[in-house]
Amino acid sequence: MYKIVSKTELVPKIKLFEVEAPDIAAKSHPGQFLIVIHGEKGERIPLTICGYDTKKGTVSFAFHEVGKTTKDLGKLEQGQEIDNITGPLGNPSEIKKFGKVLCVGGSVMIAPLLLQSKAMKEAGNHVTTVLGARSEPFIMLEDEAKKYSDQVYVATDDGSKGYKGLDFLKELLTKEKFDRCVVMGPVILMKDVSEITKPYNIPTMVTLTPIMIDGMGMCGVCRVTVEGKMLFGCVDGAEFDGHQVDFDELILRQRTMLPEERLSSVLADMHGGCKCGRNKA
Ligand SMILES: Cc1cc2nc3c(=O)[nH]c(=O)nc-3n(C[C@H](O)[C@H](O)[C@H](O)COP(=O)(O)OP(=O)(O)OC[C@H]3O[C@@H](n4cnc5c(N)ncnc54)[C@H](O)[C@@H]3O)c2cc1C
Ligand code: FES
Repeated sequence: MYKIVSKTELVPKIKLFEVEAPDIAAKSHPGQFLIVIHGEKGERIPLTICGYDTKKGTVSFAFHEVGKTTKDLGKLEQGQEIDNITGPLGNPSEIKKFGKVLCVGGSVMIAPLLLQSKAMKEAGNHVTTVLGARSEPFIMLEDEAKKYSDQVYVATDDGSKGYKGLDFLKELLTKEKFDRCVVMGPVILMKDVSEITKPYNIPTMVTLTPIMIDGMGMCGVCRVTVEGKMLFGCVDGAEFDGHQVDFDELILRQRTMLPEERLSSVLADMHGGCKCGRNKA
C-alpha cells in the first residue's frame, strides 16, 4: 500500500499526489513512469513521474481526471492509500549539457515536463519553457517553471493568456537557435511542435502515451511506429525522436477503446456514490 502524503489540486480536474514509496523514489529519473492500480480490481494506468525525494522516500505524479480510474483516484485524500504502484518504468531521459534547450509542455504533462526543465537547468543548459493549455484557468505551475527556466512563455488555444496557439514558436525559432527540444503533452501538441522544429533540425524528444497494460514489454499493446520500425512505448521509450514518430497511427490506436471508456466513465459517474457495484464496468 502506498500512502498519499500530500494532495494538491493544480487546476480544475488536475491533481498532484506525493506518495510514500521509498524504493521507487531511490531509483527514479526524469522521463520515467509508474503503473498505478487503485482498487482491488482496478485497471493499470501509466502516469509519468513528476518528482521524487530520496530523503523523504516519496514520489509524485499528476493526473488529469479524464475517465473512471483517474476520477476514482482523484477522490482519494491525503492519508489514504493506493493499492499498488509499480515503477520506475521506461527509460530515463537523456539529460546532459546540450546548450539551449526548449521544453514545451501541455495540460497535465506540464508537471512532469518541469522535472525535465529542472534537470536540464542543473546540467548547465539555458532553458526556455513553454506552458500550453486550452485557456487561462488551465495554465499551471508558472512560478515553478520560472524557477527552473531562463525564459518562460505561455500559450493558450483561445488566446486568453499569453500567445494564441503555437505560431509564436515559429517566430521564436527564426530568432533563437536551440540545440534540443523536449515536448510532453497531448499527442497533437507533440506532433505540431515536432513539425515546427523539423525544418530547423532541432533534435526533438517526445514522450509517447500509447495505451499500456503491463508497462514492461510483455503485452504488445503499446506498440508505436518510429522511423518505420515497430517499437514498444514502455520498454523502448517512453521518449522517442519526434521527427520519426508516426503520430497519426498513435492517435488512431489511442482511440481503440473509446466506446468502452465512455461507458465506464458514465457508469462511474452514475453509480460512483452508491454501493451497487455497477460502477465496475
Ligand atoms: C507512458 C505514459 C505516461 C502517462 N502519463 C500521464 C500523466 O503523467 N498524467 C496523466 O494524467 N495521464 C498520463 N498518461 C495517460 C493516462 O495513463 C490515462 O489518462 C489514464 O490511463 C486514463 O485512465 P481512465 O480510466 O481515467 O480513463 P479512460 O476513460 O480509461 O481513458 C481515457 C483516455 O486515456 C487513455 N488511456 C486509457 N487507458 C490507458 C492506458 N492503460 N494506458 C495509456 N493510456 C490510456 C486513452 O487515450 C483514453 O482515450 C500517460 C500514459 C502513458 C502511456
Ligand atoms: S505495455 Fe505491454 S508491451 Fe508495453
